[in-house]
Amino acid sequence: MSDHILNLCYLVASVTFILGLKMLSAPATARKGNLVAAAGMSIAILGTIFLYRNTETGEYLHNYGWIFGGLVIGGIVGTLAARKVKMTAMPEMVSLFNGMGGACAALISLVEFNHISKEMSDHPNGELIQSLQPTILIIVLGLIIGSVSFSGSMIAWGKLNGKVKDYSFSGQNILNLFILAIALAAGAWLIVDPARGYLLYIILALALTYGILFVMPIGGADMPVVISLLNSFTGVAAAFGGFLYDNKVMLTGGILVGAAGTLLTILMCKAMNRSLINVLVGSFGGSKNAIASATGTQGHFKEISVSDAAMVMSYANKVIIVPGYGLAVAQAQHACHELEKILNDKGVEVVYAIHPVAGRMPGHMNVLLAEADVAYEKLEEMEQANEEFKTTDVVLILGANDVVNPAAKSDPSSPIYGMPILEVEQAKTVIVNKRSMKPGYAGIENELFFQPKTSMLFGDAKKVLQDLCAAVKMV
Ligand code: TAP
Repeated sequence: MSDHILNLCYLVASVTFILGLKMLSAPATARKGNLVAAAGMSIAILGTIFLYRNTETGEYLHNYGWIFGGLVIGGIVGTLAARKVKMTAMPEMVSLFNGMGGACAALISLVEFNHISKEMSDHPNGELIQSLQPTILIIVLGLIIGSVSFSGSMIAWGKLNGKVKDYSFSGQNILNLFILAIALAAGAWLIVDPARGYLLYIILALALTYGILFVMPIGGADMPVVISLLNSFTGVAAAFGGFLYDNKVMLTGGILVGAAGTLLTILMCKAMNRSLINVLVGSFGGSKNAIASATGTQGHFKEISVSDAAMVMSYANKVIIVPGYGLAVAQAQHACHELEKILNDKGVEVVYAIHPVAGRMPGHMNVLLAEADVAYEKLEEMEQANEEFKTTDVVLILGANDVVNPAAKSDPSSPIYGMPILEVEQAKTVIVNKRSMKPGYAGIENELFFQPKTSMLFGDAKKVLQDLCAAVKMV
């Protein structure tokens, strides 16, 4: 009876994962989607703890002290970390949590191989070994993918919080592929000859090294691709765990995470103009020479005062706001929404143009603006906004830089060359708010700032927006 209830728990949980994922695809339902999937996961976990029975002995789980001890410690650490994290540090946290998932998958492989080894030494016969080979294949794949995901995510985490610097050397891709090939060969050998248990630890070391070397050379603008790719790796590794334990909910969850991560990776690749193969061999990041040559070509730029900017916007028919990372840093989303409302009251149409990689994580700008109650229908995706810039009077760029850099279209030596951008220069007037002439994430200069139709409005985004609100009211 308890087995049937457990299966029902798994079915309910699988359905909540799918529903949750679906709800996560729209900002209006995303928060609820997260809760729905979390509720399903709780059902699956509690169901397993109380209803799972060993298939051979028929015994229920008993070591509740360890299980709940782990749950409580993990729950407290996770809750505190999630409460403390700043919106701008979210990708770091995603990386860290993702790495933990990869580590769990790798640990499952290590533990399960030990069980199998014991079984084989208790009953040493060829038939048993043959029957266990498919399981060993899954163990090896789970170990490799989980370990790569763990060490890669840890490096990504270090890079995002600025503790780990980009590092590359010539021939790194070849070395990476070589390491991966040896790990796979060692895995094949272990499957053929499972008595060589030490191979498992060699595979572990090689996979961890591959994960580190694979992420080390990756430069700024390509980081989101790597994070979502590592996310998909963790999903696949967890799905292997589901195979091992014949646990359907783990399998479904793993497949969903793997598929979602892969789809996001493909979308990110498209948004940043990188091929997936290029990502897989860890050979991107933009050449440092290109970065060096792209910086340091300062030209002349013009400044605009808050009152002049307020005047220009108040008399416009249509204003498009382009939010970027700086808006998030300044926590200026509420002030931004306020300005939108004041302009609306003056009969000015205001919409937002959202670049897929504006900010530091997928959906960063959508989440930020949703927090300030900006209506979803006011958020335009890049393709739509690019159609509209030519009929727009004023574009107000708030702490965005790379995502509006025309070098992505015009300069083949630029590290962001080929990345689709918001073509703001098609509008009649462009006002750029940032604090200085410093470059953005990709570390390159932006020729947009030196174009005749562009005016710089220097200052912290929140302060500038508050001043703009006051000034527009006075017009
Ligand atoms: P960035 O190119 O990073 O530019 C942000 C600009 O905001 C900076 O130039 C900075 O200039 C300005 N700024 C910082 N603090 C500010 C403040 N308090 N007030 C006003 N301005 C401020 O941002 P973007 O245009 O949003 O582009 C995102 C970049 O991050 C892309 O290169 C993207 O590839 C990369 N990236 C994206 C993601 C995802 S998935 N979204 C993840 C990782 C990396 P000042 O210092 O002069 O103020």
